[in-house]
Amino acid sequence: MKRKIAVFASGNGSNFEAIAKACADGKINAEIALCVTDNPGAYVVERAKRFNVPVIKFRPKDYASKKDFETMLLGHLREKGVELICLAGYMRIVGETLLEAYGGRIVNIHPSLLPAFRGADAIGQAMDYGVKIFGVSIHYVDSSLDGGKIIAQAAVEYDGNDRDELESLVHAREHVLYPATVARLVDSLP
Ligand code: GRF
Repeated sequence: MKRKIAVFASGNGSNFEAIAKACADGKINAEIALCVTDNPGAYVVERAKRFNVPVIKFRPKDYASKKDFETMLLGHLREKGVELICLAGYMRIVGETLLEAYGGRIVNIHPSLLPAFRGADAIGQAMDYGVKIFGVSIHYVDSSLDGGKIIAQAAVEYDGNDRDELESLVHAREHVLYPATVARLVDSLP
């Protein structure tokens, strides 16, 4: 039987799409039961529609606290029977409500070789630093910023200064590594 996963995204959603395609192609033994966004205008909403994935859109400012919106999300996740949460460009620190409920079953993708360049604009940070080997990390989520245990990494060698070119190389690597890693995690769900 197919397992149930959720993807959380705040923006473009290209990683959402890579995972959705892998699910549709049978490369991940799961369906995306829910797409969650904290940015109702995000392009990921269009992508989710194309894949017939239900979307929960919310605005954090409509809630008194993180606990309040995470409690709302938890209700939806439980109702759908979600077993694994994949963050894909979700621009928020996950709070204790979700961490307590889904501890060890929330993963994130970050566009650097962690522990280098945590936080926002990791690609820009790495470029500014002048590194020649960039990369992608997938890690478990805990209460730290991009600090949980690393699950998988891939390096991207780049020695130019064209940010767009570098970004497309990094994203292309993400779109292979994330679905492959999610497939493995899904297969090892109890
Ligand atoms: C990716 O680079 C991911 O590593 C980071 O946010 C970006 C999301 O891109 N966490 P997209 O929305 O999946 O296109």
